[in-house]
Amino acid sequence: MVELSHIDFAYRQPDGEAHPVLHDFSMTIRRGECVALLGPNGSGKTTIMRIINALAFPDAGVYRLGGTPVERGIVQARDSRFAKALHQRVGFVFQNADVQLFCPSVGEEIAFGPLQMGLPEAEVDRRVADLAGLLGLDGMIDRAPYRLSGGERKRVAIAACLSMNPDLLVLDEPTDGLDERNTDLLVRVLADLVAAGKTVLLSTHHPDIVERLDARVVRVG
Ligand SMILES: Nc1ncnc2c1ncn2[C@@H]1O[C@H](COP(=O)(O)OP(=O)(O)O)[C@@H](O)[C@H]1O
Ligand SMILES: [Mg+2]
Repeated sequence: MVELSHIDFAYRQPDGEAHPVLHDFSMTIRRGECVALLGPNGSGKTTIMRIINALAFPDAGVYRLGGTPVERGIVQARDSRFAKALHQRVGFVFQNADVQLFCPSVGEEIAFGPLQMGLPEAEVDRRVADLAGLLGLDGMIDRAPYRLSGGERKRVAIAACLSMNPDLLVLDEPTDGLDERNTDLLVRVLADLVAAGKTVLLSTHHPDIVERLDARVVRVG
């Protein structure tokens, strides 16, 4: 489903200086797999996830999604249908959930993607109810996301991604900052998603989470 082949990537400073992050990095993710990126801080885990979500583009090498090369020109073309399809197929939960929550209520946050996709209202309502149930957000539908705890906001961000029904869910250090109860809940939700056939890629520093999810480990750096 995802194929990164011989990727080089460097961040470029405004003065033109390059900060190399990935060199000849390759990995594949097959449909239905749960894969964990493990590596020290600064090794490039977030960068890999940004490439998979077409928020960054390799300097060399090829990224293929479902066999199709993902290239800057195709993704950034105006009204790109390819970009739309990609963002529907790949859901990205940022390490800091706050940067992706922007609606006045939890319900609207979860409904946003499906409404953008043009789904009928009844289907949108069904998805909101399903995901609120799955992520334990039932009592919070009308609350403002910024008034929730960190763990609750993380769950809202995940629900908002899942409401688009992506094939691949990418989570950047999803248990970062969560207490034990929220971590357990998250691990259970992810395990259920994988059992239901979803493909999951996460980064983490916690070997016990890798073990509990029975994830295949890809080392970075
Ligand atoms: N926007 C950016 N501009 C310049 N350097 C960056 C930027 N984002 C990350 N980096 C650098 O790239 C390297 C890899 O970062 P990152 O992919 O975030 O690693 P990880 O997620 O494994 O901690 C780090 O050295 C980081 O400082
Ligand atoms: Mg990171």
